[in-house]
Amino acid sequence: HWTAEEKAAIAAVWKEVDVEADGHETLARVLIVFPWTQRYFSSFGDLSCATAILANPKVKAHGKRVLSALGGAVKNIDDIKHTLAHLSEVHAEKLHVDPQNFKLLANCLVIVLARKLGARCTVPCHAAWEKFLAVVCAALSKHYH
Ligand code: HEM
Repeated sequence: HWTAEEKAAIAAVWKEVDVEADGHETLARVLIVFPWTQRYFSSFGDLSCATAILANPKVKAHGKRVLSALGGAVKNIDDIKHTLAHLSEVHAEKLHVDPQNFKLLANCLVIVLARKLGARCTVPCHAAWEKFLAVVCAALSKHYH
């Protein structure tokens, strides 16, 4: 269900992604902009303000882990459901993360990428990424219903 243009847009943007820096910014934005998401990360230590969140090494390490997992979905774009099946199970059964939160993270990632790409974040590129992230969110939510 992907056009050649969509696949090309997703692959081209992914080549520019820095899983460490962009993952850190994405997860930090989620925790700062949507502070109720902090409840899932009580083991991460100080999340008391934006400065603390941005300086927190666990936020940085975990952002990299999240974006690395997303890289797996980019590489297996024709089989995202299976690629993320185990992660869906972990988030549902073990972490009890409300699946609405996946969309918040997807929105923050779009903002991080758009800021980075600037004018290269064209409308077709934006559309391809929204579609890709919607498929990722659906795959991660699969184990819930
Ligand atoms: C753990 C990926 C969204 C909360 C993880 C892990 C990965 C991951 C790879 C490590 C799993 C393991 O230990 O086997 C993703 C991806 C997401 C996403 C790809 C969306 C694109 C979220 C969101 C939340 C969340 C939105 C909550 C707001 C957690 C928590 C852990 C975790 C609490 C455990 C952290 C720890 O204690 O080390 N996630 N995640 N995840 N995720 Fe997610």
